[in-house]
Amino acid sequence: MLYSEKVMDHFLHPRNVGVLEDADGVGEVGNAKCGDIMKIYLKIENDVITDVKFHTFGCGSAIASSSMATEMIKGKPLAEALELTNRAVAEALDGLPAHKLHCSVLAEEAVKAAVKDYYDKNGIAYDVRQFPAASCAHCSDGTCGN
Ligand code: FES
Repeated sequence: MLYSEKVMDHFLHPRNVGVLEDADGVGEVGNAKCGDIMKIYLKIENDVITDVKFHTFGCGSAIASSSMATEMIKGKPLAEALELTNRAVAEALDGLPAHKLHCSVLAEEAVKAAVKDYYDKNGIAYDVRQFPAASCAHCSDGTCGN
């Protein structure tokens, strides 16, 4: 089977789908090649992610990746959320097919973009190196062909 049971489960029953109207940080990223878009909303208190929701207009792997990513950062400090990698998301899903790994990159980027948005809105200083240019992250593992 091409997809793990966990991928199918998170695709068919995605966790944390929706919008947080009073979000403290919102991150929207897209993959220029496939056109898929992911939006993540964070509620943050004392540097901890107290709630998270997402909307993904994209493929099944992108939906499963965003669902898993939101589960992995919920209740976590921002510093930990920023360490979330697409590899960790893919591993938590028991793997993604090689040509679908780039879909999990969207999840990592969306989380980072939402945290950055929170920092920007609140005038909080940060190290720009924590937020690599989104367009480069697609190509980091060479799987997406962008
Ligand atoms: Fe576009 Fe999966 S094919 S994110």
